[in-house]
Amino acid sequence: MASNTASPDVALVQKDAHPFERAQLEGLMTKRFFYTQAFEIYGGVAGLYDYGPSGAALQANLINFWRTHFIIEEDMLELDTTIMTLSDVLKTSGHVEKFADYMVKDTKTGDIYRADHMIENVLEARLQGDKEARGKERGAAEPEVAPAAADKKSKKKAKSQAIKLDDAVVDEYTKTLAMLDDFSGAQLAELIQKHDLRAPATNNEVTKPVEFNLMFESSIGPTGQTKGFLRPETAQGHFVNFERLLDFNNGRVPFASAQIGKSFRNEISPRAGLLRVREFTMAEIEHFLDPEKKQHPRFKEVEHLTLPFLDKHVQMSGNTTIVKMTLGEAVRSGKVDNETLGYFLGRIYLFLEAIGIDLERLRFRQHMDNEMAHYASDCWDAEIHTSYGWIECVGSADRSAFDLTMHSKRTKHDLVVQEALKEPKVYQKYLATMNKKVLGPAFKKDAKGIEDAILALSQDQLKTLMHDLDAGSAHVELNGAKIPVNKEHVTVEYKTIKESVRTFVPNVIEPSFGIGRIFYALLEHAFWARAEDKDRGVLSLPPLVAPFKVLIVPISNNEQLSPLAKEVSHRLRKMGIASRIDDSSATIGRRYARNDELGTPFACTIDFATVAKGTITLRERDTTSQRIGKIDQIISVLKQICDGSLDWKGACQILPEYTGTQDVEDS
Ligand code: GLY
Repeated sequence: MASNTASPDVALVQKDAHPFERAQLEGLMTKRFFYTQAFEIYGGVAGLYDYGPSGAALQANLINFWRTHFIIEEDMLELDTTIMTLSDVLKTSGHVEKFADYMVKDTKTGDIYRADHMIENVLEARLQGDKEARGKERGAAEPEVAPAAADKKSKKKAKSQAIKLDDAVVDEYTKTLAMLDDFSGAQLAELIQKHDLRAPATNNEVTKPVEFNLMFESSIGPTGQTKGFLRPETAQGHFVNFERLLDFNNGRVPFASAQIGKSFRNEISPRAGLLRVREFTMAEIEHFLDPEKKQHPRFKEVEHLTLPFLDKHVQMSGNTTIVKMTLGEAVRSGKVDNETLGYFLGRIYLFLEAIGIDLERLRFRQHMDNEMAHYASDCWDAEIHTSYGWIECVGSADRSAFDLTMHSKRTKHDLVVQEALKEPKVYQKYLATMNKKVLGPAFKKDAKGIEDAILALSQDQLKTLMHDLDAGSAHVELNGAKIPVNKEHVTVEYKTIKESVRTFVPNVIEPSFGIGRIFYALLEHAFWARAEDKDRGVLSLPPLVAPFKVLIVPISNNEQLSPLAKEVSHRLRKMGIASRIDDSSATIGRRYARNDELGTPFACTIDFATVAKGTITLRERDTTSQRIGKIDQIISVLKQICDGSLDWKGACQILPEYTGTQDVEDS
């Protein structure tokens, strides 16, 4: 083998020579057709996007890896349930009544804002203005914090004015921002009034916040009588199929079902690109478990991971300081409620790391009590920092027994687990038996109420009732009245019970991924511009998720090169490695640059040495360094890199640096 030289280190590439500009990334997204606004030629619709070939491939790769990392690795039961959902299901789940955001209207123009977003926007602009004023006072030439370029262009964004605020006001605004997600409609109204918050675009007053349900309503069938909604989450499809899932899993918990699919939310005023959309892809896991056994057998695999936490107590004190600790410590100290929830936070962290999210821009934030969705008892969001601020990308909610209990009550299906006990449970308890034949005629319309009242009695109350019945002085309370009852109506006995089956409603831990948000955050984290030329953008996407892994570039349009390019492409594609041939007339430099913008990690150059000696060069995107090898060698290296068994450093140990002149020996 030819001698090797030191490998160029990907980690040393200078990626921060130019500050991030959202507008530049957005330009690249359109130019390389990652995504575009839907119905663009009709003027577009806010909150709806189409993905092009590069974006669709990137999204498919994210989803494929999600499927491997969660469904296959964790042996989950995959579902594909309908998007159109019966309204009864969403009434039972609480979405018809409670799945709403608050909106306000500009009193003069009628422009609509989501109330919490408008408040955040105006308070942030005032704080920004304060910083500018203080900067000027100190004689600084520039404001301390420059607003992002794209924000300056946004029509509905509040403009900052260099006005200094009292220290106490700065403190109050900062605390309000930290707690904003926790505020009710009445509290939002109070804030608007107290701080005289106005529509950012016009400075007009706004109306009081009113609730707006986020679901798209529809009807099923021609009569219009069966109401439906486009689902706002995939989760209900799991819950309504619980009996069959449990049966599929031989009647045992724990198990998890998983589903990847579209959901819909009629967002009030979506203005944050892919981060707030009306139609989106979710990947949701519903992990069903025994409420008395929330340990996880694989927790030890993740307990050493150090995660950045922002818990609800810190936020309620008006603070946003992140605390780093291991998952083991977080669960042992009670910060994270149980091992299963902790296990999923760890797996989410590993997923985000593998796809290329910058872990320095990740935090796990616990929901505050009022902020929680109506079905959740605890929730931790994996939030990723982008130019739009911290964005919820994965929510991990403890839905307890909420959904199964509600569906069970509504449908009279027992959505429960029955567990055979190894040792039967023997105990004594007071049991009431109604004599309905006497109770009905004796109490007529009140009979059912009396029966329910007796069934609701505690053990102590039943004991008293038993004694009172024996003494002939028993009564039952119904709507405040004392109704006399006797042994003809009801008897109470102290009985020995032997139970060989335990029946319980499982609890649910739900990690829920917004694929589009992760997709966008990843693009921001992957994007940078070459130090020598600000206009040369690069997307440093890992091979695992890059839309295309290899670009094949014939050095010229000489007819001897084309069959070789096709052969390399064919061999790569047979191994499942997505490659593209760029045989356009653009210069090789331009073709490499195009490749960098697509995030393609490698380029194979086919030249006359390929014809004469069977060698090709391999260019790495971030370092732009080139190595050389025989076709078989290069293909083998690419295969190993793409399956994750080799990195670029390792590849450089195998392939010598390309000098333009050397021969390469067979390995
Ligand atoms: N199922 C989680 C969510 O709707 O966000």
